[in-house]
Amino acid sequence: MNPASEPIVVAIDGTSASGKSTNARLVARALSFVYVDTGAMYRTLAWYCLQKRIDVEDSKAVAAACRRWKTQLICVEGAVRLLVDGYYPEKEIRTPAVSDAVPKVARVPRVRTWMRQTQRACLRFGNLVMEGRDIGTNVFPETEFKFYLDAPLAEREQRRIADGVTENLQKRDRQDSERAAAPLMIPLGATIVNNGGQTPQQTSEWILAEVQRKLSERTARRART
Ligand code: DC
Repeated sequence: MNPASEPIVVAIDGTSASGKSTNARLVARALSFVYVDTGAMYRTLAWYCLQKRIDVEDSKAVAAACRRWKTQLICVEGAVRLLVDGYYPEKEIRTPAVSDAVPKVARVPRVRTWMRQTQRACLRFGNLVMEGRDIGTNVFPETEFKFYLDAPLAEREQRRIADGVTENLQKRDRQDSERAAAPLMIPLGATIVNNGGQTPQQTSEWILAEVQRKLSERTARRART
């Protein structure tokens, strides 16, 4: 395949409430790339397990559910959606019960393999801005466009409170960082963006400038070869 025609993937990883979703959406819109929220995919599986009364502590049962469920990827208004049995559980995946269950399904190796495969299949929609916890390390380790977002814990807690969500962010980050399968970590070659005290406008403009700079470098490199 001609590398120039391969879709571009901007990978945005980071801690909870570090602004991944807001910034990834802004960057995707500015670049006219497709936005992919991979956390929503893990949440969808957690919701599905709760619906089907599958014990999320039981890795084998969760892995079996992940093999069995009937899903479909679609792209609506520039964003990817994961449908289950033709349904998009947009609101249902944001409840506290799902937030509690999601780290338990996210640590199952079979689930991570399924997610990686499904997330890579999003390339069929074109250029992507994909946010998550393991995009630059595990899903698209080959991309040149990797960002790792973080902000001081107190500020991240304030952001969640402003969104009307009470959550133990420290616990969530620990669960995400300490699991054996594809833990949250800074991807090799990622640009670290500590956005404490910044508005999403400032952070996203900074990321966009970096993407443009890397794209120009890449064009120049390819012109030389
Ligand atoms: O970003 P979020 O809060 O919607 O993510 C929900 C959970 O899914 C989070 O606890 C970690 C997990 N997750 C993951 O393990 N890998 C990803 N690429 C995205 C999310």
